[in-house]
Amino acid sequence: MEYKIAVIKGDGIGPDIVDQALLVLNKIGEKYKHSFKYTEVLAGGAALDATNVPLPQETIDICKASDAVFLGAVGGHKWDVLPGHLRPEKALLGLREELGLFANIRPAIMYKELKDACPLKPEIVGDGMDMVVIRELTGGIYFGERGFKTNEKGDGAYDTMFYSEMEVRRIAIVAFETAMKRAKKLTSVDKANVLESSRLWRKVVLEVAEDYPEVEVKHMYVDNAAMQLVINPKQFDVIVTGNLFGDILSDEASMITGSIGMLPSASLGTTKLGMYEPIHGSAPDIAGQNKANPIATIVSAAMMLRYSFDLEKEADAIEKAVETILANGYRTGDIQTEGGILVGTKEMGQLICDAI
Ligand code: IPM
Ligand code: MG
Repeated sequence: MEYKIAVIKGDGIGPDIVDQALLVLNKIGEKYKHSFKYTEVLAGGAALDATNVPLPQETIDICKASDAVFLGAVGGHKWDVLPGHLRPEKALLGLREELGLFANIRPAIMYKELKDACPLKPEIVGDGMDMVVIRELTGGIYFGERGFKTNEKGDGAYDTMFYSEMEVRRIAIVAFETAMKRAKKLTSVDKANVLESSRLWRKVVLEVAEDYPEVEVKHMYVDNAAMQLVINPKQFDVIVTGNLFGDILSDEASMITGSIGMLPSASLGTTKLGMYEPIHGSAPDIAGQNKANPIATIVSAAMMLRYSFDLEKEADAIEKAVETILANGYRTGDIQTEGGILVGTKEMGQLICDAI
């Protein structure tokens, strides 16, 4: 089979980590006889420098015509001074919207080899952690009406959190379906004690729950969820929440696993076309220095194989190889602990290819 992949290397460490993931994909292609055809497109800071806009129409068109979009990271201090509509992050938001990617799947799995890198006490995480945050990605305050206005308090700015019932229902269905394939435990996170949009969220989640009687559903306020994640993370299996809360909680959950440099993500819509990227940012301070951890990006490639191409055993092979390399003691700087063998971005990529 031939698969068309739109590749956005992006800014900062983006090119460093994507290059390694593509080597891993090529290795999979060779071993399992698939052909991955890459088309490199611009988005974010790199697009701003080349075309003056963060998300050129050509990029959107090529992404739409592909089987999947694979992205490194966008953004950097250099472009921080630009107004909102020209920021590199706008490219990400634009792609999510243009491609209809409303469901963001962010697994937070602690590799047993990295237990020492977890910032929580060992008795809190026990033998590990395995949860998934399902974040609504094309609605809520990220996409609501915004602007500047002046009222009796003076000049100000506002953003609106709006959710339609349809938007809540479709993400709730993704969450319940995910829960059915796992431990059948779902926590829906909102702020229903204060926000009207959260009360609507809760009502719709309860309605969808009627179709999944086997799933045990809990509702939790977001402030409590943030606290529960650090005092008892193992109570969670699947978390479903809105765009802003999911942005925050997925960073928190990821850090409990030891490093944000380990975690992949998939953004999905109603078709097989998904976008795959690590959940971390572009880390411009270490760009081009062979220091970044490519594992989050490499396991994002595994998610792409699984979700967009239905290549289950190929995805397993990548994940297995990562585990083997970690078990053999190899570490990039962000996950280095005593006794680990420190390697750079390229060496880590090569080791994983060899293990495949
Ligand atoms: C993420 C990022 C993005 C977000 C930024 C870069 C716009 O933090 O994917 O979590 O807030 O969604
Ligand atoms: Mg984020």
